[in-house]
This record gives sequence, C-alpha cells and structure tokens, in this order.
Amino acid sequence: MIDMWDEDKIHDFRATLLNWYDEAGRADLPWRENHDPYRVWVSEIMLQQTQVQTVIPYFNRFMSMFPTLNDLASAPEQALLKAWEGLGYYSRVRNMQKAAIQVRDDYQGVWPDNMATLEKLTGIGPYTAAAIASIAFNEAVPAIDGNAFRVFARLFKIDADIAQPKTRKVFFELGLQLIDPARPGDFNQAIMDLGSSYMSAKNFDSEHSPVKQFNAAYADGTEEFYPVKTKAPKPKPITYFALAVKSPAGYLWEQRPADGLLANFWTMPLYALTDFVNDPDADWTMEEMIAATEQRLLTDYGVKATLAKLAGRPVTHVYTHQKWTVTVLTAEVTEQDLTRGTWRPKTALAADPQPKIQEKIWTKI
Ligand code: ADE
Repeated sequence: MIDMWDEDKIHDFRATLLNWYDEAGRADLPWRENHDPYRVWVSEIMLQQTQVQTVIPYFNRFMSMFPTLNDLASAPEQALLKAWEGLGYYSRVRNMQKAAIQVRDDYQGVWPDNMATLEKLTGIGPYTAAAIASIAFNEAVPAIDGNAFRVFARLFKIDADIAQPKTRKVFFELGLQLIDPARPGDFNQAIMDLGSSYMSAKNFDSEHSPVKQFNAAYADGTEEFYPVKTKAPKPKPITYFALAVKSPAGYLWEQRPADGLLANFWTMPLYALTDFVNDPDADWTMEEMIAATEQRLLTDYGVKATLAKLAGRPVTHVYTHQKWTVTVLTAEVTEQDLTRGTWRPKTALAADPQPKIQEKIWTKI
C-alpha cells in the first residue's frame, strides 16, 4: 500500500521539484527549445533506450534530415535506417514512419492532442503518449518510464514489482495525484532529470537531492532496494556464421528478409548453426560445420569457395531476446555468377546502414 501525502505535502513537493527544475534543469537540451509535438515525439522515441548524451547529435541530425512529419512519412526506408544507424532497436524508427503516415493520412497531418488518442498510433505506448500529451499539449498525465518508476518507488517505498505489467497502473494513479496540473510537461521532465541524476539507479546522491525530505527510502537508507523488479529471462544464445566472401568485384552482400531481427538490412550472408544442425546436441567439429556451410554457400548463392575460420574470438552482440556469437568464415574467390545476393565493393558499403554486428565483423577482417 502507498502511504499517500496530504494536499499540503503534494503542493510543497510540486513547488520544490519545479523550482529545482527551473534553476538546474537541462534547458539547453535541443528538444526542450520548443514544444512542437513532432520534435517531442522524435526525442522521446530516441530516449527510450538511449542515453541523453548519445541522443543529442542523433536528434539534431534527424531533424535536419526529416524536418517535418511529411518528410519522415515519405522517406525511403534505407535513409531512415541510416539516420538510426548505431542507435539499435530499429523497430522504433520503422514504427515511427508508420505513425507519421497515420497522422498525415488519418488525422490530416494534425497531431492528436491527448494521451488516449496518441496511444492509438503505432509505436506509441502509454509512456510516450503521456510524454507528448503533457509536454506538447499540457495534459496532466504522468509519463511513467524507468525514471518515474524509480523516483516514485523510492519516495513512497512502493513494494509492487515493476516487472509486472499491472504495476504500471499503481504508478500511473500515483502520478496523476502528484503531477502539477499547471505545468505537467515540466513536472514529468523534472522527474526524468531527477531519475537520471540525484535519484539514479546506481551512484545516487539522495543527500543532496532537492527532494531529499520527501524520500521515504532515503529516510531509512533503503534506496538501493527500490524499485522492486524481478529479473527478466536471459537473452537466448545463438551461434552464427558470417561469410566474408571476397571477389574482385567486392564482398558477397545481400538484403535480409523483411521480417525478423535486422529486417531489410544489407549484410554478409549469416547462417545460424540451427540452419543446418537439426539436433542441437550433435557434436559437430568446426571442420564439419565449415564443410556444411560451404555446401550451403554453393546451393544458396551458387558460389564455390573454400572457407577458413578467422583467427581469434567470435564476434558477439546482445539483442533484447538473443545473444549472438558470430564466427567469421572468410574466402577469396573469382567473380562468380550469383544465384542470390550481389557483389559489392567495400568502398560502396559505407552508404548502407550497418547494423552493429556487421560493424563489429568489419573490424576483424
Ligand atoms: N528521458 C526520456 N525523456 C526525456 C526528456 N524529455 N528529457 C530528458 N531525459 C529524458
């Protein structure tokens, strides 16, 4: 149960928080220059899984590439992926384009001005909808992200498990009572700033926090136990082979399928071990796996090559639900006719958006 504050304490909290925000808040952040919903939306999507300092240059670049909603709605997919290169979680930008098209076509280019309608757009969940509604349209709705979970959980010593979907409602209801109806956007952003500074997950500094006297967990030294969160399952390990096959015309290069991880990106051929090992417990030697891969290279691409394992450790990359361990196999071949993919000179590759795993492979060869 939450031990709710009385009205006086709530008013006191709002005033204390917003005074601090006015004096110390990061007013210089580019998405705080104005409250244009398009800018607010782009920044909030970028900030979902990425740190503020990393986002700033991406945000500025994105705004100059796609200054308006219409520019984004009509952009070629490869240009979008290029603008997002390095940020990861590419479904974010693909969904943004879908939402841009929805606003353009279903809402005549006028942004919905409330949380409930914003949530109907592709890729806009309760957090993003509340952030846009409060910052751009002054709707008094709390934006509950990881920061808000942590800040509220500590202020009130909330024991509900934030890994459980139903817990969001507990925090949302609390936030509705706390939020300043006169300045909801600033209130939400002040909570975010607090959660990434004095009330961060590690190295928090409750002692100097502007809301120290409201912090129940600080009062008994239990901040590190809040928020309560059960652990998510570990990403599933998957073994891949990447084929760096080089001919005088360049590397063997192909576009990945339109669905699944790294959809539509151009990469080297990538084979999951499970593509040719039906029994995952079968004990294949590296030689046997290489021979099987050579066979696939011939049947799938029409390329005859002798593959060699690159010395050194495999390349690894962790996605939300998968951990990839990629062994790189290399070959030099003559320019052969392809049944799939294309030969692409290395110098031309920089124009394509490169997913992180492909970038890591390039540093090895
Ligand atoms: N994190 C998420 N949204 C943010 C915002 N608007 N400002 C700073 N950090 C954020």
